[in-house]
Amino acid sequence: MIVSNTTSDRAIATASSGDVILRAATTADFAGVRETIAASMREAFRAFMPPLERAGYLRHWCTPERFAREIGDPRQVHVVAEQGGRVVGIGSAEDRVTYAEMWRLYVRPEAWRRGIGHRVWDELTVWARSRGLARIHLESFADAAPSQRFYRGIGCAPDRLRVATLFDGSTLRVRLREYVAGL
Ligand SMILES: CC(C)(COP(=O)(O)OP(=O)(O)OC[C@H]1O[C@@H](n2cnc3c(N)ncnc32)[C@H](O)[C@@H]1OP(=O)(O)O)[C@@H](O)C(=O)NCCC(=O)NCCS
Repeated sequence: MIVSNTTSDRAIATASSGDVILRAATTADFAGVRETIAASMREAFRAFMPPLERAGYLRHWCTPERFAREIGDPRQVHVVAEQGGRVVGIGSAEDRVTYAEMWRLYVRPEAWRRGIGHRVWDELTVWARSRGLARIHLESFADAAPSQRFYRGIGCAPDRLRVATLFDGSTLRVRLREYVAGL
C-alpha cells in the first residue's frame, strides 16, 4: 500500500492504477475538491437535502480557510484521487489517539463504481494503521443510499443513528448514521 506519512513534511508517496492517481491533497486542490463534493452531494443527497441547504452546507463547511487549516494539521490526512489533472475524489481522516475519525469521502458521480472510493478508503486505513490506531469511526448521511451501501460493503458496522442540523442557522434536520470498524 502506498501511504507514508512523516511528521516533517507529511509526504504521501503517490501510486497510480489506470489513469487515476492518489496523492496527498494540497491547498491548490481546494476548488477541485469543492466541485467534487458539490457534484457528489447533488447526485446523492437530492432526495433529502434541497439545493439551498446544500449550498449553505458548502459555504459553511467547505471554505478555503478551513481546508488550509485541515491540510496543515499534522493529525490529519487528506487523500485526493486525480484523473487527467482533475480532482475526482477526496477522503479525510484524523488521528483521535485511540481511533481514526474518517470523513468527507466523496467521488464525482460520473466516476462512481470504478473502485475509486475503495482506493481512497484503503489509503486512509493504511495511514491510520501506520499511526497505531485500531479502530475507525465515521458519520454519514443515513438517507444517502450510495454511501450507506458503500460503508456496509466494506465491513463497517452501523452504529448510532442521530438527528442533527446541517450547520449553525440551518433548520433542515438530517439523519446521521455512525459506523465503526476495526483496523
Ligand atoms: C460512497 C462513494 C464515496 C463511493 O465511491 P465509489 O468510487 O463509487 O466507490 P467504489 O467504486 O470503490 O465502490 C462501489 C460501491 O459503492 C457503493 N455505490 C457507489 N455508487 C452507488 C450508487 N449509485 N448506488 C448505490 N451504491 C453505490 C456500492 O456499495 C458500490 O458497490 P456495488 O457496485 O457492489 O454495489 C460515492 O458513491 C459518493 O461519493 N457518494 C456520495 C457522497 C457520500 O455520501 N459520501 C459519504 C460522506 S457523508
